[in-house]
Amino acid sequence: MGSIPPSGGHSYVHGRPPWPPGGRHYTSYLRLEEILKCQSLITDTHDEMLFIMIHQISELWIKLCLFELESAQQNVMHDRLNVALKMMERAAAIQNQLIQSWEVLATITPPEYAQMRQLSTASGGSGLQSVQYRLLEFLLGNKNPSILATHERDPQAQAILETALHRPGIYDEALKLLARRGFAIPEAHLNRDVCQPYRASPAVEDAWKSIYARYDEYWDLYVFAEKLVDLEYRVQLWRCHHLKTVARVIGFKPGSGGTTGVPYLARVMDQVFFSRAAVGSREALRWLARASWIFLKQCRSACRCGRGAVRPRMAGSACAML
Ligand code: HEM
Repeated sequence: MGSIPPSGGHSYVHGRPPWPPGGRHYTSYLRLEEILKCQSLITDTHDEMLFIMIHQISELWIKLCLFELESAQQNVMHDRLNVALKMMERAAAIQNQLIQSWEVLATITPPEYAQMRQLSTASGGSGLQSVQYRLLEFLLGNKNPSILATHERDPQAQAILETALHRPGIYDEALKLLARRGFAIPEAHLNRDVCQPYRASPAVEDAWKSIYARYDEYWDLYVFAEKLVDLEYRVQLWRCHHLKTVARVIGFKPGSGGTTGVPYLARVMDQVFFSRAAVGSREALRWLARASWIFLKQCRSACRCGRGAVRPRMAGSACAML
């Protein structure tokens, strides 16, 4: 198996075919020669190709998602809410692609994965090192300065994340928009320290409640709130599928990034961004919160220490799950 070349024996990209002068060719415009050569296998296991590509494809989707959401945020800032809504809808569709990709990954069986992992231990890579994923979380409001420590060996990544940490998230712009539309958003929330996680405020919740109660009057804000909730909902679905796939493929072994693995991922699921504040009264969110609690319970009962210890480097040996 290991000796079969990545393209299955055929060279799909074989130099640039002739093209009318001045025209653009499919292969060169999309830089396929470069992209299709980026799958460098370090083991001779069959499944490594899938493993590498699913991560690369996910990173590409995350790049597009960031592009759409950063543009959406700019449009919210400039009161072009309808344009922002369109971009948020596309971001949600991209998230669906990310969620679907777990179906492909789940075809790796535990022995196949274990073989690949054994042969690639020297690499020591983990999704924890994904800069784009953190940028996405920061944009959605999951601010946590301690994340920067994860990238201490990569100063360039750390600098990018540090800059992003100090930038307002999409929800910060949402609150400013509500204030511009006449809702009583507390000054402390409008000028909050954006490096810190969002803290709920009864006044903000009241604003959203008014919008939900009189949605025909505030139709665009109502749709905006639903789109925000959609984004967070899909992040949670992605996390949930990640957790279930990891449990299926590596069970309760520790992660390659030094965490407890599944119990760590279960704890991550408890990190909410803004939705509780945005629409605390929605039934769907109560259900989501409950689903996440059920995961925590499952993982706690499966965790050997019974407490669900987290990665030592980030949180000491304390158990943050309870
Ligand atoms: C079979 C495949 C996979 C396994 C076994 C796996 C396993 C894990 C584990 C155990 C962690 C916890 C940190 C650690 O100790 O490493 C983690 C974190 C992470 N993984 Fe995966 N993963 C897989 C696929 C993916 C894919 C396809 C992506 C897509 C980008 C991804 C992105 C991430 C991210 C972003 C984190 C950090 C999550 C957080 O801290 O909130 N993983 N993964």
